[in-house]
Amino acid sequence: MFIVIVPGVARPGGGVGENAAMHIRTFEPRDADAVVALWGACALTRPWNDPRLDIARKLAVADDLFLVGEIGPGDGLGRAEGEIVASVMAGYDGHRGWVNYLAVDPARRHQGLGAAMLAEAERRLAARGCPKLNLQVRTSTAEAVAFYERLGFARDDVVGLGKRLVHDDPPGA
Ligand SMILES: CC(C)(COP(=O)(O)OP(=O)(O)OC[C@H]1O[C@@H](n2cnc3c(N)ncnc32)[C@H](O)[C@@H]1OP(=O)(O)O)[C@@H](O)C(=O)NCCC(=O)NCCS
Repeated sequence: MFIVIVPGVARPGGGVGENAAMHIRTFEPRDADAVVALWGACALTRPWNDPRLDIARKLAVADDLFLVGEIGPGDGLGRAEGEIVASVMAGYDGHRGWVNYLAVDPARRHQGLGAAMLAEAERRLAARGCPKLNLQVRTSTAEAVAFYERLGFARDDVVGLGKRLVHDDPPGA
């Protein structure tokens, strides 16, 4: 298990929360509500992608490359329930590794959590023999490019193309 120490978070009413450890582990079905909420808070959901169907499709692959970052329990602070604060959905198609849904709770950014999630995804991909990682960044989240470049990614001379094979209904429709 990969563990990252998370500094205390400023509380709305003042003061700073206690330090805690973020545990990175494989997604479990009980995490679905928290992960969908996290993706919403990170503006990663889109009407044409039902996030719960995305989760179901990923679980059907069963590759242990869908990860969550959880604070507590087991961090010595007596928490009964863990708090999901980060996610990454990686994949390996036998030629390239892919990264999707990298998300960090907006209240917990710039503490190294995103880098830690990516590092664990890279570690698991490398263990499978994956030689290169690719990802696509929406032009509307262009600030993520700076994050990836800081972590060693370089722009490839490619044009991203996509073709939908399954059309999800918008969530709630
Ligand atoms: C992108 C994201 C995952 C980064 O998470 P994070 O926990 O704040 O990132 P880290 O603290 O691990 O930052 C790692 C490095 O990237 C840099 N970085 C992080 N966000 C950055 C930004 N918006 N602009 C420039 N640099 C950034 C950090 O300064 C840090 O560099 P350092 O090692 O020199 O300090 C987070 O901002 C997020 O969830 N964004 C919304 C969802 C998203 O766009 N995901 C990517 C989808 S393609």
